[in-house]
Amino acid sequence: DKVVLAYSGGLDTSVILKWLDLKGYDVVAYVADLGQRDDYEEIKEKAFASGAVDFHVVDLKEEFVKEFVYTSVKFNAVYEGRYLLGTSLARPVITKGMVEVARKTGAKYISHGATGKGNDQVRFELSAAALAPELKAIVPWREPEFFNKIKGRKEAMDFAAEHNIPVKATSDQPWSSDENLMHISFEAGILEDPAKKPPKDMFELSTSPEDAPDEKEVIEIEFEKGEAVKLNGKALKPVDMLSELNKIGGRNGIGRIDIVESRYVGMKSRGVYETPGAAILMEAHRDLEGLTLSGGVINLKDTLMPRFAQLVYAGYWYTDELDCLKAMAEKSQEYVNGKVKLELYKGNIVPVSRESSDSLYDELVVSMDDDLGAYNQTDATGFIKLHSLPLKAEAKRKKQ
Ligand code: ARG
Ligand code: SIN
Repeated sequence: DKVVLAYSGGLDTSVILKWLDLKGYDVVAYVADLGQRDDYEEIKEKAFASGAVDFHVVDLKEEFVKEFVYTSVKFNAVYEGRYLLGTSLARPVITKGMVEVARKTGAKYISHGATGKGNDQVRFELSAAALAPELKAIVPWREPEFFNKIKGRKEAMDFAAEHNIPVKATSDQPWSSDENLMHISFEAGILEDPAKKPPKDMFELSTSPEDAPDEKEVIEIEFEKGEAVKLNGKALKPVDMLSELNKIGGRNGIGRIDIVESRYVGMKSRGVYETPGAAILMEAHRDLEGLTLSGGVINLKDTLMPRFAQLVYAGYWYTDELDCLKAMAEKSQEYVNGKVKLELYKGNIVPVSRESSDSLYDELVVSMDDDLGAYNQTDATGFIKLHSLPLKAEAKRKKQ
């Protein structure tokens, strides 16, 4: 029987590949290209060396940024107030590619290297349930026969050596990481003690703020319907936009967070993230919304955002509920057109200027120097009087 394995070329998925092979499966190794800086030729060789019968790389970069990252930016989505969801957004699109490979190769099974303790297993399997309910998941990390043998890194290394699986130096890193165009996440290993600061040399996409240039860098992002389309006057497709912003943000020490978060499976976990480009994008986007959206729409979006973030975090991308939220977010972006100028300085993102042809801002109305009668201050007396009515009723009752 054929099984499509979401394969990274790392130690864990290589061990899983071999294990599935030894169990008698024909393993189709599948790599989702989400812009992680990997050598796919090397990964391909490694997959075959580990027992794969077939190998597929699917380029999902454009879909990932356009459909997932940009949608999340439209919502200004953050999980528990801080995490920009870089891994959570990637899992459903990886699963979509995996389902395509399964259909193409006639596989009845899918497999992944996510553990039984994390969010990723849920995201992969809920996405698969929505896209291809006929596929069955084989999950070695949840099978006692597997996890009793491969207890930790040492056992995985021994297993690799025993079966001639080539092991890369990155397998020695005392943490686990996950990279795509949006971010790198770091978890586990020496990061498991939330009281301990991560080592300086762990970070890959960004310099630390204290080492960033002493001069601020000024950039301008132009949006059309909530999507970034130009950077410093130059038109860029979503993938290039995010890559470019990653470089700019990275050199200015932007987008690092170090948090303790609540996993969907119930436990707390410590995660460190580098999200330079998306952090800038979101700040700029939010700023332009201030100028172009009504207070009511901003409030509606802010009310629904945590729901969106929770659904994304927990793996419910391919659901009617998420589709409804997406439609709302999409509709809300009709007037989010214009430019935002930002100053980037040692980890800070400071919007300093915004303009839009769809602005709701009226200087004449807001100005304290107004004497043209655009706004009559005496109108406010009645406004406050009526709004005071229910408060006065409560005050009266309290006195009784
Ligand atoms: N805690 C983050 C999340 O749940 C990152 C997960 C990282 N996954 C990984 N396989 N390293 O989205
Ligand atoms: C894992 O447990 O496989 C990674 C972390 C997570 O999925 O939350």
